[in-house]
Amino acid sequence: MRSIKDIDVSGKKVLVRVDFNVPFDENGNIADDIRIREVLPTLQYVMDNNGILILMSHLGRPKGKKNPEFTLSPVAEYLNGIYKGHVKMAPDCIGPEVKKMVDALVTGDILLLENLRFYPDEEKNDDAFAGELASLCDIYVNNAFAVSHRAHASVSAITKYAPQSVAGFLLITELEYFHAAMENPRRPLAAVVGGAKVSSKLGALKNMLNRVDKLIIGGAMANTFLKSQGFQVGKSLVEEDLIPEAAEIMRKAGQQGVKFYLPVDAVVAAQIDAKAVSKIVPIQEIPEDWIALDIGPASSRLFAEALDDAKTIVWNGPMGMFEMDAFSQGTASMVHSVVNAHALTIVGGGDTDVAVHSMGQSDRISYISTGGGAFLHLMEGKVLPGVAALDNVK
Ligand code: 3PG
Repeated sequence: MRSIKDIDVSGKKVLVRVDFNVPFDENGNIADDIRIREVLPTLQYVMDNNGILILMSHLGRPKGKKNPEFTLSPVAEYLNGIYKGHVKMAPDCIGPEVKKMVDALVTGDILLLENLRFYPDEEKNDDAFAGELASLCDIYVNNAFAVSHRAHASVSAITKYAPQSVAGFLLITELEYFHAAMENPRRPLAAVVGGAKVSSKLGALKNMLNRVDKLIIGGAMANTFLKSQGFQVGKSLVEEDLIPEAAEIMRKAGQQGVKFYLPVDAVVAAQIDAKAVSKIVPIQEIPEDWIALDIGPASSRLFAEALDDAKTIVWNGPMGMFEMDAFSQGTASMVHSVVNAHALTIVGGGDTDVAVHSMGQSDRISYISTGGGAFLHLMEGKVLPGVAALDNVK
């Protein structure tokens, strides 16, 4: 895979695939701009080297239809705040009007194309659509780690048609950190996996088993593991069909010498409600009609001690329903443990990232990934289609 630094961008039209799939608040303002900020070094590099920038992204899931609700215009506005009015918004991502706008660009201009997912061809990895996008540029840059697990036209097929295809700095940095943590880590290597469902993390858990020294499980997914060991977890979320898989993962962990940690207590409530009465109980004593919504303080202490000697920590998924104050303490304690570890610390996954940000601790993590699904894909040990496409370029 070649980097943007390996080629000459001067005077060239450089089409950069970014992931501007950012969240908005109720007033339509960008609620978290990390995905925008993280691509700026690549954009700056192109501008400093006299390249002409064209940016393309998806936003949300408009299902292949033009829908103003999913326009990238607010992102163009945001970028104009940074680049002092040099950013133009295209009305589409392909077609004659876009071509005209691209032809009129001069060095210092930035053109942001409209949402790629307004065309179903994007998600179909359609060759003709990829060819049309590629026809806009001299150089294609994939700087969209967070969508590189999707074999979509602007990520995958486009490399067959662009004159040159390279990786941007963000994609490279993400891969480098992940590989530093996984390929040749300083040990002990600990993975912390949380979130609601075992099903969404099964592949990651299985792959992690072959790599880590310690595996810590929190969040609602811990219930399925606990039930597989004979604990009754009341009305908590359990994926019954995955109980045998959970038991098998724990059996393998034992066989492979991986230290496996589950919560020993829980914060339980009668309903999923921020105002519901809650209490802390040992895991053996979850009342029949109650729901475990966070790990308890004894679990937090146990997990902190398990992480104490770790030299590398990879964390994906919250420890409880941290969006509600009453059930946020387990995740807050995990943030505390991770930032205080003398370790290389890598955090990935939208929710985990939000938790670290909301506690104002982002600067104390070695690396926070911009990817959710893409990060999980790497945890599963898979090659990202976007990376494979760059690797296959001759
Ligand atoms: C993400 O937010 O994880 C990426 O932008 C990919 O979005 P998607 O899950 O809609 O493909």
